Amino acid sequence: MKVLVVGSGGREHALIRKIKESSKVDSIACCPGNGGISFDADCYNVSATDIDGVVNLAKEIKADFVVVAPDDPLVDGMVDALNDAGFATFGPKANAAIIEGSKVFSKDLMEKYNIPTAEYRVFDKADDVIEYIKEKNEFPTVIKADGLALGKGVIIPETLDDAIAGVKEIMEDKIFGASGNNVVVEEFLTGPEVSVLAFTDGRCVKPMVSSMDHKRALDGDKGLNTGGMGTVSPNPYYTDEIAAECMEKIFIPTINAMNAEGRTFKGCLYFGLMLTPKGPKVIEYNCRFGDPETQVVLPRLKTDIMDIFEAINNETLSELDIEWSDEACTCVIMASGGYPKSYPKGIEIKGLTDGQLDGVTVYHAGTAIKDGTLVTAGGRVLGITALGDTLEHALAKSYEAVKNIEFDNAHYRKDIGQRALRMTRLEHNEV
Ligand code: AMP
Ligand code: GLY
Repeated sequence: MKVLVVGSGGREHALIRKIKESSKVDSIACCPGNGGISFDADCYNVSATDIDGVVNLAKEIKADFVVVAPDDPLVDGMVDALNDAGFATFGPKANAAIIEGSKVFSKDLMEKYNIPTAEYRVFDKADDVIEYIKEKNEFPTVIKADGLALGKGVIIPETLDDAIAGVKEIMEDKIFGASGNNVVVEEFLTGPEVSVLAFTDGRCVKPMVSSMDHKRALDGDKGLNTGGMGTVSPNPYYTDEIAAECMEKIFIPTINAMNAEGRTFKGCLYFGLMLTPKGPKVIEYNCRFGDPETQVVLPRLKTDIMDIFEAINNETLSELDIEWSDEACTCVIMASGGYPKSYPKGIEIKGLTDGQLDGVTVYHAGTAIKDGTLVTAGGRVLGITALGDTLEHALAKSYEAVKNIEFDNAHYRKDIGQRALRMTRLEHNEV
């Protein structure tokens, strides 16, 4: 098979590495890809959001299967267009991708089908939001732009003044564009967060191994929200008991709800969960693999990923046994100085050979090859990923490797996995 992967980040690199292991695959293409991906796939300069461009590319290279990884093209109907042109695909159609594309849709869905989530109200006027927040007078409060906003459309103000300023930015200054035409105001929940990615063909749902993201830019969960600064899998807070509860109260009801709405979801459905004192609740759905969750989940997958993608495409997922390794996996993101605000690009990256380093897997998120040299090309640059028999061992390998990779002003968190490690020690009664 020739497989085309649409996208350009660390998640796409992890997908490509796993697809490369498949006995069914003899060549992989990627659009647009990045510097590191170019060692594993043929990269084509077509934007991941250019639907016509991607359909044409798939025809031109005679792709047998197309994997659409990022949120925007899924929400905009790239899978629909590829299916119409006769291509087998992995990823939901637009009418199902709306589960991520609109927070108002997903909140209303959860309310209608009794899926546990934070209490909420929807608004389309800034004055009404401010009135409501004033009246409620409970802080912190959570304000979310309705549409896609590069993972930045959520603010959690601690004071009324900050809330007013945030609402004005989203709804009047439109810092996230039309995404801010409507906002959701939510109850603030507390508890550890868990990411669970799940394969589904609309008939059955098979959760992958759990993971934990680290969203803030700085150690100790300080600083601005980012796309994710590192991940570990498994997530020790996600016990078998909690997994069973999530299956019954969240995963199956969500798949059923989408079917009942005539919006069958086929692909990877991402459940962003918070384990609150009142039980697990959904913080968000994503219609795709998470980034950087994919980087720690897929290395643990033992089953041929193309068997899974084909089973989902053919709606025969229930017949497939999906196997996972018991190892722990960790990913430490090396980012450009300044990220998630502005940052320079084009800085030379030293310490890698063909984009890799012995003992770990380096997933490239934002790199390019300029005049034969590997350089930075994005905010998140590299994800240094390691498997180990324990979380501690995997983390040691990731951090050891980080020391050998250099670029000016590289920034990474030093405490990825520390919270998980503390929890693991408690579980084993270690002091
Ligand atoms: P989201 O983009 O919806 O995943 O939100 C980004 C982050 O904001 C989440 O990972 C949580 O840490 C936080 N968050 C979102 N909603 C809530 C909530 N209702 N209560 C507390 N924290 C939240
Ligand atoms: N890591 C969170 C996301 O992919 O949205």
